[in-house]
Amino acid sequence: MSNSDMQQHVKWFRGSAPYINAHRNKTFVLYLGGDALAHANFENIVNDIALLHSLGVRLILVHGATLQIDQSLSERDIPCAFHANIRITDEQVLACIQETIGKLRIQIEARLSMGIINSPMHGAEIHLSSGNFIKARPLGIRDGVDFQHTGEVRKVNIKAIDQQLDDGALVLVSPLGYSPTGEIFNLSAPDLATRVATDIAAEKIIYFDRQQGLLNTSGQVISEIQPAAINTANFLDNEIPKHLELAAHACQNGVTRCHLISFAQDGALLEELFTRDGAGTQVCRESYEQIRQATIEDVAGIIELIRPLEEQGVLVKRSRELLETEISCFNVIIRDGAIVGCAALYPFEKSGELACLATHPDYRNNERGELLLHAIEKQARELGLECLFVLTTQSGHWFQERGFKPGAPEQLPVEKQSLYNYQRNSRVFSKPL
Ligand SMILES: CC(C)(COP(=O)(O)OP(=O)(O)OC[C@H]1O[C@@H](n2cnc3c(N)ncnc32)[C@H](O)[C@@H]1OP(=O)(O)O)[C@@H](O)C(=O)NCCC(=O)NCCS
Repeated sequence: MSNSDMQQHVKWFRGSAPYINAHRNKTFVLYLGGDALAHANFENIVNDIALLHSLGVRLILVHGATLQIDQSLSERDIPCAFHANIRITDEQVLACIQETIGKLRIQIEARLSMGIINSPMHGAEIHLSSGNFIKARPLGIRDGVDFQHTGEVRKVNIKAIDQQLDDGALVLVSPLGYSPTGEIFNLSAPDLATRVATDIAAEKIIYFDRQQGLLNTSGQVISEIQPAAINTANFLDNEIPKHLELAAHACQNGVTRCHLISFAQDGALLEELFTRDGAGTQVCRESYEQIRQATIEDVAGIIELIRPLEEQGVLVKRSRELLETEISCFNVIIRDGAIVGCAALYPFEKSGELACLATHPDYRNNERGELLLHAIEKQARELGLECLFVLTTQSGHWFQERGFKPGAPEQLPVEKQSLYNYQRNSRVFSKPL
């Protein structure tokens, strides 16, 4: 590995640390359709699943089998009817489905049990659990059509699944359900995955899709969308994808975040979960960016954000100890667990200093600075302060464009004057509140 590759690697690893912490002990549902299981990249996905498992993520894997069922039916010349795009499962079709899903499940179990020889996860042992977690009922007769053994979920045995997850197992759910009368039903796997995720109030559901998330009309990936925006968004195919509808439903029913990623792209799962911008599309009820008062846990993230600016002389150096003592003065913008903006308010008698205002370079020019300024102004007013001032060497114009007027060090509160660093020669700006 070259030196620069190594540095990239170290940077990436450090950058992923907040996500490792954030994901530990959280429940994620992964949906992999039959086409994903048949794809050459499935082998890599299994390794990434093993890695997530070893990082303490509670995983439920719901698999589909449409591709394999279609193949088995055609190999055996078994006719199969559909109504409204839903398979009608008669006795003969059901027998073929049971056999296909049974075989597929064994293959998945085998892959996940391999000790993952010759893989990055060699030695990681996964305890798998599957069983009669899903109670189902018949879809019944619709538009006069009897769907026979095609069913829908009646109940997910959350308690049993939770127990398995608590015991450290990875739970594998196949698209079959059982009725209390002993009948077997063929279920839609994406619907099943969504239902499991909402019932268990999973932190995330991840749908592995053929394409790399949602694409806009120019073919670019839409990295974040909220359910309310789905009907007005313009998609490449001009039609709302099924997984997006399910994701929106999941979001509105208790799942914190849903992700649409590609099963064909090596590493998409890790990129989506451990990098700021992800690889696919994230669907969440509210924007996943949040502004709030900082806590002691944010100190490391603030340091990471401001250190380069301190080194360039744009911001005054602050030690970790000082930041820890003054952390309650800070506001931060959090984006999916990472700090991308910060600002502090230090009250002096009747005025307040706005300090350490910074937005991560990758996230500038999207009014985050403005948002932080407003938050600080609001807090200053709540504290009864009459004026806000700022000392800056390079961002004077930014403040002037937002109502600050140039001042002089002598106009600073007495206590601040004694701390003024004449060598740094910062310019003073102030704004009445
Ligand atoms: C100043 C800073 C916080 C703005 O963050 P931001 O999230 O990009 O802020 P906004 O999106 O609200 O504002 C962007 C606008 O300010 C302009 N801007 C950015 N830095 C500027 C500067 N130093 N001087 C003048 N204008 C500036 C941008 O060009 C953009 O204007 P435009 O949309 O007309 O092109 C950010 O550039 C930063 O972190 N700078 C380094 C730290 C610093 O100087 N802090 C202030 C001292 S405490």
